[in-house]
Amino acid sequence: MVRNIGIVIVSIIIIAIVLDAVVSILSRPQAGRKACQAANIPYKTVIAHRGASYWAPEETYFSYNIAKNVGADYLEMDVQRTKDDVIIVFHDDTLNRITNVAEVFPGRENDAINTFTIAELKMLDVGKWFNTSFPQRSRHSYSETQILTLDEVIDIATSDNGLYPLYIETKSPKNFPGIEEQLVQILQTRGYIAENENKINAPYAPVLFQSFEIESLLLLQKIAPQVPRIYLIDEDMVNQKGWDSLIAEAKQAQCAGIGPSGYLGWPWITGKAHRNGLLVHIYTVNKKWQYRLLDWFGADGFFTDRCELLMEFYVKPHKEPFKEILSHID
Ligand code: G3P
Ligand code: CA
Repeated sequence: MVRNIGIVIVSIIIIAIVLDAVVSILSRPQAGRKACQAANIPYKTVIAHRGASYWAPEETYFSYNIAKNVGADYLEMDVQRTKDDVIIVFHDDTLNRITNVAEVFPGRENDAINTFTIAELKMLDVGKWFNTSFPQRSRHSYSETQILTLDEVIDIATSDNGLYPLYIETKSPKNFPGIEEQLVQILQTRGYIAENENKINAPYAPVLFQSFEIESLLLLQKIAPQVPRIYLIDEDMVNQKGWDSLIAEAKQAQCAGIGPSGYLGWPWITGKAHRNGLLVHIYTVNKKWQYRLLDWFGADGFFTDRCELLMEFYVKPHKEPFKEILSHID
């Protein structure tokens, strides 16, 4: 009996050692460090996906302030444009999931975001849904929050005088022709992108661009080549194009890295990206066991709704104690 247990334990240890060796061959440990350093991006990277969106309504004053106070490396956001050409920070194509559009504009709940003016969008509440969906994390003040413009998110990001780093996704950019130029213009005006030969005074790249659309990244490469670009990749793209051509596209746009979904974060994928000089930021990962597994597989950072948890995983200290940050919200 004791002998059998011994054989099982020794077998498990041998399998674990062999598995670890295989993963190390497919994806060399620390191989992404060089790509992160080349793009001046922290290794490993904590990206607050739509802000600290596990704790507060996504892409709002609250989710971004929590992420900032925790000290996440980047505030992630999706940019789109209103009917009257204002760049806003909002994820979905329509307003129905997270606003009271059905109440305020009955009949328009499934209309595209670019059929609304900024004044109309400002009439909507973007936090009540969170309180209803997650009562245990609800806060009274969340029910009075609005959709933000890009400029308002930058106001939050610069409220302590520095340039809090931003990780900006051009969302469905084909619906918003010219949004790349407009975005770069705003970031130049707000000091995130240097004009002429000036240098930005920041320890790491103060802004990154990301997109599922390679055309948008190619355009951004042309107009703001100094801003690192990340090519987002989902399963449909892999099925349609295959990894070799996706990696080739990322290299053609001189991307700093790729951003595959968590289901694609296998070691042979991270290894392939690293061998091509690309870092790997995986979306959207919210559990410690998932961080551990994908980190072992070679992830260089994560988009996460729980930046406080990922920082604990990476042993990066919180800027402020997390309980205190939450206790300041009514
Ligand atoms: O931008 C990374 C990740 O956010 C992509 O997915 O749908 O949350 O924008 P999504
Ligand atoms: Ca996004």
